[in-house]
Amino acid sequence: MNRRNFMLGAAGLGAAVVGGGLLARPSANGQPYDEYFRVLNEELKKNGPMRPCLVIDLDRLDHNIDQVVQTVKAPKHYRIVEKSLPSSALIDYVSKRAGTRRLMSFHQPFLNDDAVAFPDADILIGKPLPVRSAELFYKTLKGSFDPGRQLQWLIDTPEHLRQYLELAKGLGTRLRINVELDVGLHRGGVNNNQALGEILSLVAANPASLQFAGFMGYDPHAGMAVPSILGSHEELFHKGMAVYQGFADFTRDQFAEQWRQDLTLNAAGSPTYRMHQAETLSNDISVGTALLKPTHYDLDTLATHVPAVYIATPVLKAVGPIDLPALDGASRLFSWWDPNQRQTYFIYGGYWMAEYESPKGLQFNALFGHSTNQEIVNASPEVGLKVDDQVFFRPTQSEFVLLQFGDLVAVRGGKIVDYWAPMQG
Ligand SMILES: Cc1ncc(COP(=O)(O)O)c(C=O)c1O
Repeated sequence: MNRRNFMLGAAGLGAAVVGGGLLARPSANGQPYDEYFRVLNEELKKNGPMRPCLVIDLDRLDHNIDQVVQTVKAPKHYRIVEKSLPSSALIDYVSKRAGTRRLMSFHQPFLNDDAVAFPDADILIGKPLPVRSAELFYKTLKGSFDPGRQLQWLIDTPEHLRQYLELAKGLGTRLRINVELDVGLHRGGVNNNQALGEILSLVAANPASLQFAGFMGYDPHAGMAVPSILGSHEELFHKGMAVYQGFADFTRDQFAEQWRQDLTLNAAGSPTYRMHQAETLSNDISVGTALLKPTHYDLDTLATHVPAVYIATPVLKAVGPIDLPALDGASRLFSWWDPNQRQTYFIYGGYWMAEYESPKGLQFNALFGHSTNQEIVNASPEVGLKVDDQVFFRPTQSEFVLLQFGDLVAVRGGKIVDYWAPMQG
């Protein structure tokens, strides 16, 4: 327990009580599971691992995949963001339903695994990896995946490209180079014609070692909630596409021999993929997290997507009203004041990057403090939780959380249908 929080909280409550109702007394927020979580709870209690687990709802995932497929139509292609769905089995499922073999990878160990799991994939690297990472990829590459045909390295500066050029010469191979553009996110990438010119000149001067393969312009800022004074989604999107167009025009004008029909002109990310329907420059659209819709993707641009991922964990202990160490009986003041502290549960694990989802009305107790072993949860009695029932959370993001729980639990129609290993490394 955090002693300072505890003292402050106790003092605050005392003041509220002494103030005789200056603060509005909280009303009970608890509600039992709805039908969806009632069914899932029964299934997990009967057939689940009875430890913290990551549940992926395949019916909901299908809905989200279909949203993407219906939006990203030829001549554009859908590229799966591998880091946001970090399980080969999950990626395989998505690629089959969406009919795409395009992946975006961000991590050398995952990249090597992709090359084995998806030997026919077309892979674009999503960030400029240190050249040593690239070297390690080639050293540990196994199977029939042919990087000379199937892989594009992402380059952001002439300096990085010079390092990759040396690598290519050392390996006696040709590297395909995709150039990161800054289309408004300002997370690096080329932001002026001079830098782009330097990169393209270097490529043009070394045809045996380097080949220009396209551009990548990631624009999530245009789909996230930003104060309207900074611009609407549309304004930020069009501004970004104007920048992208400027770099494309520069390349066509100044490096005509580098401009080919088969270039990968990658754009988007979950927050903006729908907006790219309205432009004709890009031909390759990245989407990952929108397929699972964790809470940070509750965006108006993703209104048609549904949450498809939950953390489920069993209640280990149901111990009644909040009873704080040292305060003992005096803790009753808290549960008297706040009906949402009349039940205390301790769950298996906790303190994840996640928000309470079901039953409704669960809350953390800051006076008691966090535990990654047995997190405290308070609620009003209406939630009706018992020992062994599951507490459900929605992760705030997917890329890290999916790696934390061992095998992912795939459910369909409220039944467990598969277990999928997360990526390693
Ligand atoms: C370069 C790039 N493209 C696309 C994405 C989109 O990923 P997601 O759809 O999972 O948000 C990301 C996410 O970080 C990214 O870095």
